[in-house]
Parts: sequence; C-alpha cells; structure tokens
Amino acid sequence: MRTPIIAGNWKLNNTVGEAVTLTTELKQLVADASGVEIVVAPPFTALAAVSATIAGSNVCLSAQDVYWEERGAFTGEVSPTLLKDVGCEYVIVGHSERRQYFGETNEGVNRKAKAALAQGLKPIICVGELLEEREAGRTEAVIATQVAAGIADLSTSDLLSSVIAYEPVWAIGTGRTATPAQAQEVHSLIRSLVALASSDDVAGQIRIQYGGSVKPDNAAALLTKPDVDGALVGGASLDAASFAAIVKAAN
Ligand code: 13P
Repeated sequence: MRTPIIAGNWKLNNTVGEAVTLTTELKQLVADASGVEIVVAPPFTALAAVSATIAGSNVCLSAQDVYWEERGAFTGEVSPTLLKDVGCEYVIVGHSERRQYFGETNEGVNRKAKAALAQGLKPIICVGELLEEREAGRTEAVIATQVAAGIADLSTSDLLSSVIAYEPVWAIGTGRTATPAQAQEVHSLIRSLVALASSDDVAGQIRIQYGGSVKPDNAAALLTKPDVDGALVGGASLDAASFAAIVKAAN
C-alpha cells in the first residue's frame, strides 16, 4: 500500500555533462519499472539539465537542500520556489552531512521542511544517530528528538507529502550497512513516533526510507522489512547499473 521510493543522493558529484550521461543511461535502465518511485538528487548546478533529461520518464527530481526564505539578501541560498521552477518534486532536508559539517539544527530542518511544503515540494527529512550514540544506547532518544523536531507543526496533509529517511551516520559511506533487523527496529520506532505526533492512519501511510551503504546486493533484504519503504542511496547511485539494480530490488 506504500509505494517504495528509491532516491539517489549524488552529493557533491557530477558536472552537468556527467549528470546528463548518468540520467540518460538510468532512465533507459528503469523504463519498465513500475510500482516504485524513482528519484535523483543532483547538485544544484545540474538540476536544470537533469530536469530536461528526465522529462516524460518515470524518474523524478530532488534537490539536496533548500533554504526557508523565499527571496532576499541570503547569498548562496536557494529557495523552494527556485527548486520548483527548475522541476524539483522533492528536496532532501537535514542530511547528516549538513548537520555535521554545516551546523544544521533540528529547528532549521523543520523550518526547511515547512518552507518546502508551503511551495508544494515534498521534503525527505533525514534522521540518524552517530556511532557513539548507538554504542551509548542512545539511538532511540536521538531518533525521537530528531523526528519530533523535524515534523513539528506539520499538518496531516504535510506529513502525507513527506518522506522520512533513517540514515545511521555510522553506515553512511562506510560500507557498514545496518542489518535489516537494525533498520526495521528503528523504522518501526519512527512510525510509532509519527503516530504519536499525528495518528495511526498517517503513520501507516508515511514512507520511511533507509540510507547508509545500500548496494545492489543488500537492497532486497532491507526492502523486504515491513517498515522499510525505500532507500536513500549515496555512492551506488552514481553508477546507473547499480542504482537501477536497487530500483529493481524494490520492484
Ligand atoms: P552511501 O550510500 O554512500 O552510504 O550514502 C548514503 C547517504 O548518505 C544517502 O543520503
């Protein structure tokens, strides 16, 4: 009943030319995929070119970040309207790399999600614990804080337009994937947190993606878990065949 969503977060990779080559190849490989939503998130500079490349295909566009203001003296920032203008349907907010390296706070993540939703963009709200937090037995507390803050004040329809991505920081770019059981445990916790903040009905409908070293050979096992509704893929999304294989695992 929840359509799985497989999203490729390209991070700081790919020139415009490389982005067009990758998406041209990808859209051919996934042309027959149905029952799965396919999303790519190139860097800002390649959004327009990728938008044109995927027009009319079953691949849709996401940005990797957004600012909450609509216009004004905010040098270097990009607004929800500018992302809509270039063809984005989704935007990633609160990725752990932004929290770690760019000082993103839970409050900022919530402001970004709200600003995106106000302009009809669907936020992919990222949460995840650090290795030391997991080892200290603080995973539940960290996730509870991040989820509650991230979705604070979102209406029912806002929540239904949102995706939550669980990305344990220790699994990102390390090759150390969470086991399907570890992912399921936290996804089920996140769903119960959404139920608490909203309703069982909304919690039953919201999609929760797993991210962190998802590869073609581990995707199927993760995706068969009942509360895992998709994947947010970093490294493996930079190769069309690998990303297409992950899409297929969700098919
Ligand atoms: P990797 O798949 O490279 O571990 O990255 C995951 C991620 O951060 C996606 O947002």
